[in-house]
Amino acid sequence: MRVVSVSVRNFRSYEAAAAPLGGGLTVLWGPNGVGKTNLLEAIYFGCTGRSCRTGNDRELVRFGEQTTRVEVAAQDDLGPHRLTVGFTPGDPKRMTVDGAQVERLLDVPQRPLVSVFLPDRLELIKGVPALRRAHLDQFVTALWPARAATRRAYAQALAQRNALIARLRAGTTTPAALDAWDRQLAAAALALMADRREAVEITRDSFSDVCRRLGLDGAPEITYRPRSRATTPDHLIDELRDRLPADVERGFTDHGPHRDDIAITREGRPLRTYGSQGQQRLALLALLLAERRVIGTRRPAVPLMLLDDVMSELDRERRAALVELLAEGGGQALITTTDLDHIPGVFAAGVARIAVADGQLVEDVTPEPVGS
Ligand SMILES: Nc1ncnc2c1ncn2[C@@H]1O[C@H](COP(=O)(O)OP(=O)(O)O)[C@@H](O)[C@H]1O
Ligand SMILES: [Mg+2]
Repeated sequence: MRVVSVSVRNFRSYEAAAAPLGGGLTVLWGPNGVGKTNLLEAIYFGCTGRSCRTGNDRELVRFGEQTTRVEVAAQDDLGPHRLTVGFTPGDPKRMTVDGAQVERLLDVPQRPLVSVFLPDRLELIKGVPALRRAHLDQFVTALWPARAATRRAYAQALAQRNALIARLRAGTTTPAALDAWDRQLAAAALALMADRREAVEITRDSFSDVCRRLGLDGAPEITYRPRSRATTPDHLIDELRDRLPADVERGFTDHGPHRDDIAITREGRPLRTYGSQGQQRLALLALLLAERRVIGTRRPAVPLMLLDDVMSELDRERRAALVELLAEGGGQALITTTDLDHIPGVFAAGVARIAVADGQLVEDVTPEPVGS
């Protein structure tokens, strides 16, 4: 699946604009504040039905307008596809794929996979475990779409168990009522843990390799850190039983894969607490690139990678390494920059350049500077 073009209407700073994407690298450039990140966000919104910057979709509607709309044209072996996302504050979001309305774009198999690097996303390395769990679960779903059902089954069983814990606490039921739920919960938990473990395992080597190429030394590693040591559902049921009094006291279930984490380490220590900002940034880039590589070898398409403002923070060798890594596996990537000089090979054949100026997107207008 390749994204061919994006067009937007009343999306953030854009009244109406459209741009084609290259088959490989597309460079979106212009001075600060012209709308580069807005366009990157629009592409993400058009492919997923969500913003990568805000949980409040109202922010996306251009000031003074009622409705925003993004349309993505894509292409796969079967032919062209059209995705649209429309949003009017107060109304449910309207999303369509090839003309048919869909509830959740994320569940649609014929949508382009996207992976996004934004400065805020450093939270994935630095922030709370819940962020890494959610990211890992999205990666699992990108790899094996059918396994999204496992995570849903676990979430449902957990919610039921927590409701029963609340009743136990209130004295309106007995521990025996938990038996059936614990059985379901444990089965779903073990399946979920197996998916997560496998996803991390198949990404480990790529992660270390990409780190090395991006010049992040100290033997960086990612490791799945399940909360439970259980290797069978019965084992987890025993663990839950042991913790039942504490759970009742607390009012919810405190043990199980909803407390998992991924350890991202360098020299054996968590980058989350000991890494410099620069090391954390490289680790995030490496994680996203490694995941993209793994997905590319197992799924029919490599995810479109959206990178916002990444080059200004990297030195020359790392910029070159990043461009090289992005080209591997043949997927699409979009990079925003204020400065074309920050992108090695920006004038190479196959690199698309789009300039943002006056709220418009202008394709490939820069002549190659003489003598460079
Ligand atoms: N809903 C909106 N309506 C109109 N303009 C917006 C909206 N949201 C953000 N903007 C404007 O977008 C501009 C920033 O665009 P952005 O894409 O972040 O710039 P950059 O090119 O530096 O990445 C700001 O001037 C901001 O006021
Ligand atoms: Mg920006």
